[in-house]
Amino acid sequence: MADVSVREASEDDCDEIIRLMQEFATHEGNLHLLKTSVQSRPRLVGYLLYMWSFTTMSGRFLFVEDLFVEKNFRRKGVGSLLWASAMKLALSWGCGYMQWMAKRRNTMGINFYKKLGAVETNTDSIMTFTLDNDAMKTACSNIVS
Ligand SMILES: CC(C)(COP(=O)(O)OP(=O)(O)OC[C@H]1O[C@@H](n2cnc3c(N)ncnc32)[C@H](O)[C@@H]1OP(=O)(O)O)[C@@H](O)C(=O)NCCC(=O)NCCS
Repeated sequence: MADVSVREASEDDCDEIIRLMQEFATHEGNLHLLKTSVQSRPRLVGYLLYMWSFTTMSGRFLFVEDLFVEKNFRRKGVGSLLWASAMKLALSWGCGYMQWMAKRRNTMGINFYKKLGAVETNTDSIMTFTLDNDAMKTACSNIVS
């Protein structure tokens, strides 16, 4: 187990979290899409970004947007500690489940989730839609006129 501690992020952590987001985006090949900058602060080695969400059928659930651990700190239990912290939070809020997305080619992430006992819930009948900023503006102007 790595010698790390897990805690809620604060405003002071923003620069360090952005640095990790840049590393994550580089890892994913998406760095050109990240529109942020960074200055140095005390060191963080991983982060988990979550948000609360809600369904009419099941009530509140916790959606995990990002999970990232720096390369040199992987396979030392850091990801598990971050995930445990999110699970405790979700349980304390009475969430029925947690949810997140993973790229099919991300075997590292998938192995991590399988070890947790997570189940893939893809179905052929559900589609995910996206409206980008320009499309929203166009759709709005078409509807409101
Ligand atoms: C996925 C990630 C967060 C895991 O963090 P971590 O700190 O290495 O995870 P842990 O050390 O807690 O691993 C827990 C278990 O997950 C599984 N696991 C984690 N990484 C694995 C790998 N590369 N290959 C196979 N199994 C792996 C193992 O079962 C491991 O237990 P073990 O080490 O006792 O065998 C980390 O690899 C990472 O940041 N990857 C890049 C970003 C990413 O893919 N994020 C997920 C996006 S969906």
